[in-house]
Formats: sequence, C-alpha cells, structure tokens
Amino acid sequence: MACRNLEKAEATAEEIRRQTGVDPNQVMIVQLDTSDLELVRNCSRKIYATESKLDVLINNAGVCIGHVKLSKQDYEYTFAANHLGHFLLTHLLLDLLKKSRLSRIINVSSVFHRYLERTLEFSHRPEQESNMKYPGLVGYGISKLAQILHTNALSKRLDGQGIVANSMHQGCCLSEIWNSKKNEPAIKIKKLFGWIIDYIGRMQKEAAQTLVYMAADPPLETVSGQYFENLEISDRLSSFAKDSELEKKMWDVSMEMCGLTKKVE
Ligand SMILES: NC(=O)c1ccc[n+]([C@@H]2O[C@H](COP(=O)([O-])OP(=O)(O)OC[C@H]3O[C@@H](n4cnc5c(N)ncnc54)[C@H](OP(=O)(O)O)[C@@H]3O)[C@@H](O)[C@H]2O)c1
Repeated sequence: MACRNLEKAEATAEEIRRQTGVDPNQVMIVQLDTSDLELVRNCSRKIYATESKLDVLINNAGVCIGHVKLSKQDYEYTFAANHLGHFLLTHLLLDLLKKSRLSRIINVSSVFHRYLERTLEFSHRPEQESNMKYPGLVGYGISKLAQILHTNALSKRLDGQGIVANSMHQGCCLSEIWNSKKNEPAIKIKKLFGWIIDYIGRMQKEAAQTLVYMAADPPLETVSGQYFENLEISDRLSSFAKDSELEKKMWDVSMEMCGLTKKVE
C-alpha cells in the first residue's frame, strides 16, 4: 500500500492482516504523496528495494479541491495529485511490472470526466493563466480525463509486453473525497444531492467491487485499453476520452512535466 498518511495506512493494513489472516509481512506500507514528483520517485525507489515483481498497480489516490493551489513542482494541484503523480509512478514501475508474467495497471478515473465541455490544455500553470478555471469539478474532470487518456496510451504502447492497462469509474459513493476542505462545488453537491448519492449511490465496500474484479479476475488478464463501470466494460466515455490527438498531447505534456524523456514502447 502506497499511502500519504502513514497512521491511517497502518490502521488499514492492520485491519487487512486481521481480516485475511495473511503473514503480516505481506501487507506492507510505503509512503507516497502523488502531488510531489520527488516523493513519487522516492516511493518508487523504496518499492524496488523490497519487491522483485509487481502484479497489479492500482492508481487510486484522488482529491477534488475547490481553490487554486500549486503542487510542490508548481503545477495545478488536482492535476498533479490525480494524474501526474500516477503517470510518473507508473512509468518508474514499468520494469517491475514487466517482471510479472502478466501484470495489470488500473487507473481509477471518474464519470466526472464526461462533464467537461471543451478541450483543455493539460499544461496549464495557474499563475500564467488568466482564465484559469481549474479548481473544483472542472479541475477534477480534467485530471480524470487525463487518467483515461493515460490508460489508452499505455495500452497501445505496452501491447504485446504482458502488461494490460484499464481505467474505471467505481460508482458514486459518499467517501471522504466529498469533504475536501474549501471545495465549494463538492460540498454544495453533497449538500444538495448527498442524500440521493447515499440512496442510489454505493457503499464504499460495494464501490470497491469493480476494482477487485479488474485486479483479480483471470479472464481480464489480457483485456486492455478498456473503461469499466459496474463490473463491466463500458463505452460511456466522452468524445475527449476517445480523441487520439488529445491522448498524444496529454502524453507529451505529462512526460515533460514529469521530467521524463524515455519512451515507453
Ligand atoms: N467517491 C466517489 O463518488 C468517486 C466516484 C468516482 C471516482 N472516485 C475516485 O475514487 C478514488 C478514491 O476516492 P474515494 O472516493 O475513496 O475518496 P477518499 O476516501 O477521499 O480516498 C482518496 C484517497 O486518496 C488519497 N490521497 C489523496 N491525495 C493524495 C496524495 N496527494 N497522495 C497520496 N494519496 C492521496 C487519500 O489519502 P488520505 O487518506 O491521506 O487523505 C485517500 O486515501 C479517487 O481517485 C476518486 O477520484 C470516487
């Protein structure tokens, strides 16, 4: 488990050890803050130090903040935490993923990518952008779109190398993400529609089912480049998420922002 808050992570790890009865050393924690690319590199180094292969990488960390904030490397924070950190981590861990016979990359995206109304630059630096509309649900949607484009690009570039890449929407559920401080849009939605999300949405355990399925179901080990919802492949993607020009742009911009030059192919 790669987590930001070690105290919370240790409590969860303990719960997993207790419920599954596995050898305690099989549930290990490494610190990761996806918003800081230097810490992502540290995390990758630590994983290489203890692991000889990686079967499944689930890029799940997510925030939705409602104010302009910059990451450690001066990128828009939500984009950095939700997409760039995962982009870099995935890139750095590819050699470890290749050591597994068949491995899987899962990017946890969201249905919110569908609510973007126009194509957007991925390279926005808020301070340079007078009409910056990144924070809140727009910023969140951009980061979630980038995760789908990242998945699509990976699946093409890794074709035939024993690594599959898929993205997913877990279904709406009232998790901590709706409580982010200063996130006016999310808090407003929660106030207005929280009861509906609670009623027709999912419990957190239920929301995890699609992820578990994607990570563990044997027939899915050769399925790549797909988007999943409700335990099945879905075509409910926005036109942006199917745009190969935008996919290339996102790839190039992310490589540059992460300081990467090596090509994955
Ligand atoms: N809830 C929904 O309705 C919904 C719908 C669609 C998609 N999703 C996606 O599902 C994923 C999980 O979200 P959730 O609903 O389970 O919300 P959550 O309970 O708030 O979980 C988000 C997790 O991401 C971690 N995180 C946030 N920023 C991080 C950072 N910079 N570095 C490392 N970890 C970080 C949080 O760590 P801390 O514990 O340290 O805060 C937390 O464990 C997210 O990618 C979200 O976008 C959620």
